[in-house]
Amino acid sequence: MTDNDLAFSAAPSVTTELPGPLARDLIDRDKRVVSPALGRVYPLVVKRAAGMYVEDLDGNRFLDLNAGIAVAATGHCHPDVVGAIETQSRSYLHYCSSDFHVPVYTEVCERLAEMSPMSDQVKVYLGNSGTEAVEAALKLARYATGRPNVIAFHGSFHGRTAGSLSLTASKGKYRSGFGAPMPGVHHAPYAGADGLTGAAWIESVLFRHVTEPGDVAAIVVEPLQGEGGYIVPPDGWLADLRALCDRYGILLVADEVQSGIGRTGTMWAIDPSGVEPDLMCVGKGLASGLPLSALVTRDRYCTWGPGKHGSTFGGNPVACAAAVVTLDLVAESLTANAAAVGDHFMERLRDLASRQALITDVRGRGLMIGVEFIDGDTAKAVEQAAFREGLLVLTCGERTVRIAPPLVIDQQQADVGADLFDRACRRVVGRL
Ligand SMILES: Cc1ncc(COP(=O)(O)O)c(C=O)c1O
Repeated sequence: MTDNDLAFSAAPSVTTELPGPLARDLIDRDKRVVSPALGRVYPLVVKRAAGMYVEDLDGNRFLDLNAGIAVAATGHCHPDVVGAIETQSRSYLHYCSSDFHVPVYTEVCERLAEMSPMSDQVKVYLGNSGTEAVEAALKLARYATGRPNVIAFHGSFHGRTAGSLSLTASKGKYRSGFGAPMPGVHHAPYAGADGLTGAAWIESVLFRHVTEPGDVAAIVVEPLQGEGGYIVPPDGWLADLRALCDRYGILLVADEVQSGIGRTGTMWAIDPSGVEPDLMCVGKGLASGLPLSALVTRDRYCTWGPGKHGSTFGGNPVACAAAVVTLDLVAESLTANAAAVGDHFMERLRDLASRQALITDVRGRGLMIGVEFIDGDTAKAVEQAAFREGLLVLTCGERTVRIAPPLVIDQQQADVGADLFDRACRRVVGRL
C-alpha cells in the first residue's frame, strides 16, 4: 500500500491498547532524551499520515480533526504538495533568502499579496514559524510608528519567544518563571468576556489610566481567537478596533496564524468583518506542514531598510514550493469546502449538544469549531476518550475541545467524526 492509498481506504480503527507495544517503546526512548518542556497530549506516535488519516506505529488508524494543530491544510501528504517539494528538493534546498534572490520566495510573496485582505499595496516577509511572524510584526510596528507600547488580549496566543510571549495571555504557565515580559505590553478583555471588552475597554480603561494612545504602536488581535477557546467576536467588534486604531494612528495587526489560509471558510478570518488590518501574521497551514510563516504589511508602513530584519532559514525554497501549491489549492477549492463541510459539521455537533448535557456551547466558523463543555476536566476527558475511539482532537481555552481538521475533509468524514465524538462523550458519562 502506498501512502496515498491510506487516504482513500482508511477508516478509524484502534486494534491495540493505547499506546501499543511499539509506541510504548518509542515513548520510553523519547522520555530519556527529549526536553520535558514539551507537553504531550496523548500517546500518539505517528508512523505515517495521508489525507484525513494518521496511522500509528502499531497500525492503529485515526481520523484527524487536529491537522497537527491547524497545519495540514491540504491534508497529509497531498500529492501535488509532495510533488512540488520533490521537484524543488532536486533543484536546491537552501540559499538564504534574506541575502539572495530565490524565485519561489518571490512567488509566495506575490500570491500572498494578491490574496491579502488589504486593498492597497503590501510587502511580504517570510519566516519559519508563527512566533517569528509575530516578532517581525512587533519590531516593524514599533519601528514604523516610533511608539513603544503594544496592546494584546486576554486569552490570546501569539507564540513563545520572548516578544510574542509577552503578548500571549492564554495560560499563566506559558509566562510564569521566565522573568519580566517585554516592557510596554498591555492586555485587554477579548470579546465574550463579561462587561466592556475590546475597543470600548481600551478607550475607557487603558487610555484613561495606563497609556496615552499616542504611545501605542499596535493592537494585536486574533480575528477568531484560537488557543483561548475558539471564540468568534460579535459583528462590529473588529470594526470598533479598526476605528480606534484610525483615531489614534495605531497599527492594527491581525494574527491569522491559526485562523488563516481558508480555515474559517473565507481566506482570512477577518474577511467577513470587512476590516482591513495594517499588518497580518500568517503561519501554520501556509505550507501544508513545512515550516513557513509570513508577515504581510501595507506598503506605507514597511518603512524599514536592508538589514533591519532577516533570518537564515526564513522562506526556505522547499517550504515556499509547498506554499505555492497550498495557496492555489486553498483558493481553488478548499476554502469553499471548509465553509460547506464546516456548516454541516457544526450542525451535527449542535444536534449532539441538544442531546448531550455535558456540552454547553458549539461555536466557530468553517472548520474552526469549538465545542465547550461544563468544565475543563470534562473537556480533557472527552479529548482522551476520543483518542481511544480513533479520533484526534485537542482542547483549547478553559473547557473547550477544538475541531480543526485538514480542509480536505468531506461530509462523510465529518459524519464519522461527529459519530465518534458522540461516542467519546457517551464514554465520559459512562453510557458506553
Ligand atoms: C494565533 C497564533 N499565533 C501565533 C502562534 C505561534 O505559532 P508557532 O507555534 O508556529 O510559533 C500560534 C500557535 O499556535 C497561534 O495559534
